[in-house]
Amino acid sequence: MQKNYGIKFVSFASALPSLCIKNTDLQKLYDTSDEWIYTRTGIKERRIVSANESGLTLSVSAANEVIKKSNVKPEDIDLIIVATATPDKLYPTMSCMLQGKIGAKNAVCFDLSAACSGFVYGIVTASQFIYNGQFKNVLVVGVDVHSRFLDWSERTVSILFGDGAGAVLMTSCLAGDDQLLGYSLHSGADVNLDLELDNSNVMYSEFKKPKCPNFVKMNGKAIYQFAVRVVPEVINELLDKINHNVNQIDYLVLHQANQRIIDSVSEKMKFNKSKVISNIEHVGNTSAASIPIAISEAIQENKIKFPCKMLLVGFGAGLTWGAVALHLR
Ligand code: COA
Repeated sequence: MQKNYGIKFVSFASALPSLCIKNTDLQKLYDTSDEWIYTRTGIKERRIVSANESGLTLSVSAANEVIKKSNVKPEDIDLIIVATATPDKLYPTMSCMLQGKIGAKNAVCFDLSAACSGFVYGIVTASQFIYNGQFKNVLVVGVDVHSRFLDWSERTVSILFGDGAGAVLMTSCLAGDDQLLGYSLHSGADVNLDLELDNSNVMYSEFKKPKCPNFVKMNGKAIYQFAVRVVPEVINELLDKINHNVNQIDYLVLHQANQRIIDSVSEKMKFNKSKVISNIEHVGNTSAASIPIAISEAIQENKIKFPCKMLLVGFGAGLTWGAVALHLR
């Protein structure tokens, strides 16, 4: 596409709820063990919202932090995109509610639904508006509160997810200074994989609440196989597009779904372990928030040296998957 401007990734930030649920806490809910969960997923603990917290409060914390780290005033934000599959309300949107809370009174706001690929889709969507000169300052937030949609009496799905929010502020710069090297997005109808959160069981004719709450349903094995197949494919596709090889990439940030998926992909792609960012052990799968939380924490912990080239890869329900390559300076 015609690029009239470049994109600068100014700052990243994240927010986690205060309540920490360890694997040993889950042992009180059903027959499981810390050892089983850790060896199958790499997860030790996850954060879960309490009564005074929500997707919105987490988004506000992450957004305020990202704004504080940048030189952009809330009223100068032109666009807010919130990527989420678990909004607090079906409407108003999370992005409009966030706009009100952070004082970004001039922003256009919409939510984006691409499950665990939401943050990658959000960056790519934001980039189109910056490249064509429509908007200068864009806030992209990934937030999910899956704890409200899990059957906590069932052990195969609820072990995986945690709640959280992550944010990035993107601004326009000279086309020659563009920090977005390229991207690649994909979608495919999920016919057999059974990764869904069904909202269709409230019927007009029944005029009452759903018979049972809506919970995430998942065929874990099929999703695992899907991920280890498509993630290397999309990485190779993007590397080809931007004319890079693995050795030219400094950091790989995969959606934090399962440490075994992260290990399998990095081995297959021959990414040295030191290049692979992982924080799943203490946050679990935070869905659309997982990539910005991982980046923000890695920057905070000085695990990322600048300038650097970074690949971000998301995958999830839909099915959706996609990758972006950043050159952060
Ligand atoms: N604790 C103890 N045992 C458990 C358990 C738990 N929490 N969950 C399942 N088990 C049992 C099963 O009942 C089964 O027992 P059986 O052999 O007697 O039937 C056994 O452990 C193996 O279960 P299985 O489902 O085959 O395990 P798995 O190796 O496929 O691991 C997942 C399950 C969910 C960890 C794994 O499939 C996975 O992570 N998939 C990807 C999911 C994902 O990333 N989703 C989000 C994408 S965005």
